[in-house]
Amino acid sequence: MIKIKEIKAANINVNKFIEDKVRDIRESVGDGLAINALSGGVDSSVVTALGHRALGKRLKTYFIDNGIMRENEPAKVAAAFKKLGIKVEIVPASKAFFAALKGITDPEEKREAITQTFYKDIFGKLVVKSKAKYLLQGTILTDVDETVAGIKRQHNVFEQLGIDPQKAFGYKILEPLIELRKDGVRKVGRGLGLPESMFDRIPFPGPALAARVIGEVTPARVALVRKATAITEETLKKYKVFQYMAILHEDRVTGMRNNKRVFGNQIEIRCWNSVDARVATPTRLPFDVLEGIAAKITKALPEVVSVTYNITGKPTSTIEAV
Ligand code: XMP
Repeated sequence: MIKIKEIKAANINVNKFIEDKVRDIRESVGDGLAINALSGGVDSSVVTALGHRALGKRLKTYFIDNGIMRENEPAKVAAAFKKLGIKVEIVPASKAFFAALKGITDPEEKREAITQTFYKDIFGKLVVKSKAKYLLQGTILTDVDETVAGIKRQHNVFEQLGIDPQKAFGYKILEPLIELRKDGVRKVGRGLGLPESMFDRIPFPGPALAARVIGEVTPARVALVRKATAITEETLKKYKVFQYMAILHEDRVTGMRNNKRVFGNQIEIRCWNSVDARVATPTRLPFDVLEGIAAKITKALPEVVSVTYNITGKPTSTIEAV
């Protein structure tokens, strides 16, 4: 297994890092083409900007609309990159993802279904269509660590698990951010001249809202967690914290609506303090803020009767629920 040497955020020489990676990407791709997937998350945004600096129009950037993204995310992300002069093609793919996720409740099987749909079905086809030989992606060291340690199979880790992407999917993968952690990636984002809203936003995982639905991921259950996510993000965006999220639980609980019993859904809110996602502690949010989120969620979503707040750190919890 290749041992990756970490570049700590405190030690990074951003300009040199960008220069080196631009040169490496150009050398690998030669005069061919590369493609990359942009989800709007910090890592994929930074890798998109880095890849365009290296390859210009020879990098084709796609937003895979997998049906499990946040509210209006595809259009928002494409518009933000258009402003930077980077064209993003939106690929509608929600049917393929929901078909792959149907009936699956085990977290690792869910992650595997998303990985296979993403890399084999969708990217396999895009590579053939675009004639690209390389996929550029924003894997970071924390993704690799957690996967290799057997904590969570991150959607974007292959070689460290002995999987050759060329053999498995028909293309090579370039990972220019793999020596960095989230704080280092943010510095590179700033160095590339990205707007702060892109590199300073809260992390969002590759498996998207599927990482926040416990149990089966159906369009209806994603719609519930999407709405709860929008409310949570809107309320908490003023706090300088690492990450926050809403999670839909599989278990239902007894609640009441219009003085009648209902066996309804429950949403869990998590809000994290962390530097690099390896360890994290729950933020001590003011109680009235939490009560406000609960009131808004139960008002907007009649199916939800209970909202809870996670008070456990990582470890033993992890940041995402799936
Ligand atoms: P966990 O849940 O493992 O999350 O404590 C650590 C950080 O990684 C993000 N995360 C992912 N990012 N692909 C990603 O690109 C994934 O499969 C994935 N799973 C979790 C998570 O949001 C947190 O910031």
